Amino acid sequence: MRYLTFALAKGRLAKNTMQLLKSIGIDCEEMEDKETRKLIFVNEKQKFKFFLAKGPDVPTYVEYGAADIGVVGKDTILEEDRKSYEVLDLGFGRCRMCVCGPKDAEELLKHHEMIKVATKYPKIARDYFYNKKHQTVDIIKLNGSVELAPIVGLSDVIVDIVETGSTLRENGLFVLEEVCPLSARMIVNRVSMRMEYERINGIISQVKEKL
Ligand code: PRP
Repeated sequence: MRYLTFALAKGRLAKNTMQLLKSIGIDCEEMEDKETRKLIFVNEKQKFKFFLAKGPDVPTYVEYGAADIGVVGKDTILEEDRKSYEVLDLGFGRCRMCVCGPKDAEELLKHHEMIKVATKYPKIARDYFYNKKHQTVDIIKLNGSVELAPIVGLSDVIVDIVETGSTLRENGLFVLEEVCPLSARMIVNRVSMRMEYERINGIISQVKEKL
């Protein structure tokens, strides 16, 4: 039997995923050691490998088949636009992609004005404004703390993830429009799905029962 390899987005998603897998009898003792600097973890008995990667790299590993299965946020799947099968909504990591800004930006959105949009997700923002709203906007790519942009005058609005809403509240910003709901998804390499159908489908069915 060959190894099935999982690529997990580092952090909370990976922790939740390992918990979920444990509930269907797949575990990885090696991974529970908090001190380790190891990058790849092996379950010899069950023939699984696990590695942690930066979220945006997970769809890349899966597209090229370096991982058979990936777990990553829907935001990252949309933004990276890699080839794979999205097979499950895992239900955790729920949040929303939204257009946010100060109250007075509402008018600019309504009248389809040429506005500046700051975001970590230029593809999602472009799809939303150009293809869905048919509004021409100027998209400015940032790498984090995007809420700063409208406050310091870099942009009129932002396209960003809203979870509890507290970052917005504490900075005097509001959700103006919702782009799409988000959560953690399981993705599968297209060739692996065919070659390892029974094992992978078995995992999918068992996970489904736990959701
Ligand atoms: C995300 C997101 C918001 C915040 C939303 O940022 O970009 O800033 O969380 O969460 P809330 O609605 O619960 O306040 P993250 O912490 O991932 O860091 P970043 O600012 O570097 O993107």
